[in-house]
Amino acid sequence: MVQVANAPKLLDLSKLAAFVDPLPIPSIAKPMGRRQAPKSGSVTVPFHRIPVRECFSKIHRDLPATRFWGYGGSVPGPTIEARSGEGVLVEWMNELPLKHFLPIDHNLMGAEKGQPEVRTVVHLHGAKASPENDGYPEDWYVPGKSRTYHYPNGQDPALLWYHDHAMGINRLNICAGMAGLYIVRDAVEEALNLPSGVYEIPLVFMDRLIRADGQIYYPVSQRPEMPWVPEYFGDAVLINGKLLPYLEVEPRRYRFRILNASNGRFYFLSLSNGQPFQQIGTDQGLLESVVEVKRLALAPGERADLVIDFSNQAGEEILLNNLAVSPMQFRVARQRSGTDSSSLPKTLRQVPKIPESAAVRTRRLTLEEFDDLAAEPVTHLLDGKRWHEPISEKPVIGSTEIWEFVNTTDDSHPIHLHMVRFQILDRRPFDVPDFLVNRKLVYTAPPVPPEAFEAGWKDTVRVSPGSCTRIIVKFEGFVGRYVWHCHILEHEDNEMMRPYEVVAG
Ligand code: C2O
Ligand code: CU
Ligand code: CU
Repeated sequence: MVQVANAPKLLDLSKLAAFVDPLPIPSIAKPMGRRQAPKSGSVTVPFHRIPVRECFSKIHRDLPATRFWGYGGSVPGPTIEARSGEGVLVEWMNELPLKHFLPIDHNLMGAEKGQPEVRTVVHLHGAKASPENDGYPEDWYVPGKSRTYHYPNGQDPALLWYHDHAMGINRLNICAGMAGLYIVRDAVEEALNLPSGVYEIPLVFMDRLIRADGQIYYPVSQRPEMPWVPEYFGDAVLINGKLLPYLEVEPRRYRFRILNASNGRFYFLSLSNGQPFQQIGTDQGLLESVVEVKRLALAPGERADLVIDFSNQAGEEILLNNLAVSPMQFRVARQRSGTDSSSLPKTLRQVPKIPESAAVRTRRLTLEEFDDLAAEPVTHLLDGKRWHEPISEKPVIGSTEIWEFVNTTDDSHPIHLHMVRFQILDRRPFDVPDFLVNRKLVYTAPPVPPEAFEAGWKDTVRVSPGSCTRIIVKFEGFVGRYVWHCHILEHEDNEMMRPYEVVAG
């Protein structure tokens, strides 16, 4: 761990009253009307206007309000509801101040001295959008400006999320609060009759370091020449923007739509009474069938769709634990307000397996860490290349490829590809020292198939340390330039991101 310079006095979480604030539910974004979608004749779609601005919000009853930068003036931002096959237009307005309140490292690509300090561009994570609507990291704009993006939603129902993607300061902008949910629905999923309405609850996890005065702390390293820190971890876990919240539930089934919007923290969620979760979906929508999980792993950028049945827990208090110190509490009422007419069908949706034989090529891509003399990381690279090197991944539109991520580091890196969804083939340990010398993969154990809860459509995959993790991707959608990157935001901001280009056949 890089030594941190001059840490201020931090909040002592053990002195904070637990479970005094109800869990807030992000508001639902209201369209301003309808507008014509680009290149679609007279078809009109809902039009949203969402500003991002500085706001102050109480993360806990006993703390002063915390400064954030939030979409719609809240953290998380308003949830956008969309229908599969029906487009949405969003004008994303940058109404931020001109100075950043978190420490910029001008050594990082795109954040050099002379660039405007405050810049933003919005990416809808998990969306199949055209390149000009995807939020390319260099497409940022300054306060006072806006961009209107079109999301066609030509994709299966899923929990997506929008967040900042500005080159070199993405980790700071998201840490400042720039994230929100986007839910795609369709009639097929609705016909399953899963818990809905007030019984469908989003949970957005973001960990922060909070100073004793209630404000966000983002550390800088002790290296004066390089303030960047390789990871950001806080012991204060905000759930929908609150610290140690509680949620009153009825003794019945609930559906939870969970997002890890943290910079670098992995969550391992479990219930204090040992009860398992029924997992029904992952990043890109429903699993084929329900999977029972006792401990849910969630890397930055990943989502999970869970059902918890509280019907045998009337009157109980249950904690939703994670490995960080701040859990949340479910308070189960003694009575239901009515009968629970929801269902939890065993089979949910078809997820046809892409056969390996469908792949026209396999790309081997390394994940490597580079350290300074004190063995502190200075950067992580994908395929040994920096952001500005020429594009090397150019899949043909409509073709299927296998990408194998060869992780030579000691960390797990969540790798995300824009625009596409994929399936995980397997993870296989290899001899790392041997690979570093000979550049040959010598496997040390048989391949391990994905966990049942990640055997659906994914857009972010955990690449475990010392493993070769393989995914299979069909490059459907749009031609043009996108990015793929590690979703640990400190890594992403410091070269662990590469462009890729879908090319015409
Ligand atoms: Cu969650 Cu490149 O994004
Ligand atoms: Cu994305
Ligand atoms: Cu990483």
